[in-house]
Amino acid sequence: MKLNKNTKICIIGLGYVGLPLAIAFEKHFNVVGYDINSVRVDSLKKNIDITVEVTKSALKRARSIRFTSDKGDIGKIDIFIVTVPTPIFKSKIPDLRLLKKSCTTIGQIIKKI
Ligand SMILES: NC(=O)c1ccc[n+]([C@@H]2O[C@H](COP(=O)([O-])OP(=O)(O)OC[C@H]3O[C@@H](n4cnc5c(N)ncnc54)[C@H](O)[C@@H]3O)[C@@H](O)[C@H]2O)c1
Repeated sequence: MKLNKNTKICIIGLGYVGLPLAIAFEKHFNVVGYDINSVRVDSLKKNIDITVEVTKSALKRARSIRFTSDKGDIGKIDIFIVTVPTPIFKSKIPDLRLLKKSCTTIGQIIKKI
């Protein structure tokens, strides 16, 4: 698969890692940023990043990113990148529940080709 400006990449989880990744990829690809937190998505649409990883001007420049909390907006994706939290329990075992939830979301969207 050749990657180009038409390659549709969906970043799942727009936190400390996912948002800067979306901003970087927007320069080269067609990026959709999905987060279950609609408050987060609404503030990103207003060019506000409360994690202060990304400046208002960088968000304004990256205007082709489609931020959404609606699964209906993430069809026909070529590549998914999952950047949701993976905290660890006291026992040091990773808590993969959010990762699994994201994979379930992706599984509902992808189709056999
Ligand atoms: N923050 C760091 O410095 C850092 C460094 C190295 C690795 N990591 C790893 O990167 C991953 C992401 O960490 P982070 O710090 O960016 O997390 P974060 O808490 O800043 O952001 C995660 C985002 O994912 C969203 N989210 C949670 N469940 C979701 C779901 N099912 N679907 C869509 N969105 C969902 C949350 O609403 C949140 O906005 C983790 O695995 C973490 O261990 C983080």
